[in-house]
Amino acid sequence: MTCGPVDGYALRNIVESDHPRVIAVVPDWWGGRDLAWMLPRLFFIHFGNTSFVLERGDELGAFLVGFLSPARPSEGYIHFVGVHPEHRGRGVGRLLYDRFFDICRAYGRDTVRSCTSPVNRGSVEFHRRLGFDLVSGNAEMDGLPVTLDYNRPGDPKVLFVRRIGVSSGNGPGRP
Ligand SMILES: CC(C)(COP(=O)(O)OP(=O)(O)OC[C@H]1O[C@@H](n2cnc3c(N)ncnc32)[C@H](O)[C@@H]1OP(=O)(O)O)[C@@H](O)C(=O)NCCC(=O)NCCS
Repeated sequence: MTCGPVDGYALRNIVESDHPRVIAVVPDWWGGRDLAWMLPRLFFIHFGNTSFVLERGDELGAFLVGFLSPARPSEGYIHFVGVHPEHRGRGVGRLLYDRFFDICRAYGRDTVRSCTSPVNRGSVEFHRRLGFDLVSGNAEMDGLPVTLDYNRPGDPKVLFVRRIGVSSGNGPGRP
């Protein structure tokens, strides 16, 4: 599949061998924050059918790691998304989210969730622009509702939710 926003790049499902090259770009793409520990190899093995990379040859343009919730049959979850700094602001992030929404709809998932750190204002604005609501938390930081100590002590998160329409004639429930 070719990708409109960045010519020459193609979108495909993520595979296990993408793991090293994806975690290698995280510190640079996240402005020095090394969050690679949040992307264990097992995600690339088990969520490959709902996760993507955008690439042109060896050049990684973007990636999204998401999954269909096993415990919540109406929900999909986007865990991580990153777009190469040179390709931001061209609709690549939106394209990846739209692709994930399509998969969710096809499998009867009408709700997509995600989260980010309150310091990541760009991510907060991106999610807002894509129609996500900010979920009420147990505190407020810089005007944002946050859930404190989310993954560990001292780790506030802004939680997002978006309802998506589900088409009739849903898939069999598995991607
Ligand atoms: C957040 C990120 C994925 C957005 O990707 P992108 O390809 O630049 O986003 P898009 O071009 O598809 O933008 C979609 C919409 O969000 C808006 N948007 C994107 N980044 C924004 C920002 N930093 N501030 C304000 N709005 C922003 C765009 O203006 C656009 O709005 P529009 O379509 O209504 O005009 C990208 O900036 C990134 O990789 N950041 C570093 C990693 C990160 O923080 N990931 C998210 C947390 S896991």
